[in-house]
Amino acid sequence: MSNSHKPVVGALRQVVADSYALLGQTHLCHWNVRGPGFFALHTAFEEQYTELFAAVDEIAERVRALGALAPGGLSNLAKLSTINELEEDANAEVMVAHLAEANEIVVASLANARDVAAEANDSESEDLTIARIQAHQKTIWMLKSYLGE
Ligand SMILES: [Fe+2]
Repeated sequence: MSNSHKPVVGALRQVVADSYALLGQTHLCHWNVRGPGFFALHTAFEEQYTELFAAVDEIAERVRALGALAPGGLSNLAKLSTINELEEDANAEVMVAHLAEANEIVVASLANARDVAAEANDSESEDLTIARIQAHQKTIWMLKSYLGE
């Protein structure tokens, strides 16, 4: 790995960890959501974690393309990520608010990676992170709309 890639790799590894944490939280909500919003939320959460699973694969493979290793393993990823874990019995509104906040943490992580990539003249990593920010902002909009915000 060339020296100019090091900060980008560090930032992208953080994105992988935060994205994986969000993926796990979204899957948990898909399983445990209850109440009148069940059908809509159960389906929406599945769409979100499916999209995220493909995205996290792209980001981890970008880390590999830069000559570094991708982070993995649930305990290792959990240690790296700053996203809080939800209680299993959280109600639907708490779940949606939690996921909106978790998506915002991933956006912050991506924005850092975008800026670090720009600084390193790594336009490909910059492009990847910009596209991911847009995807998460759309998810945040949907989650907040459910909450009436
Ligand atoms: Fe399912």
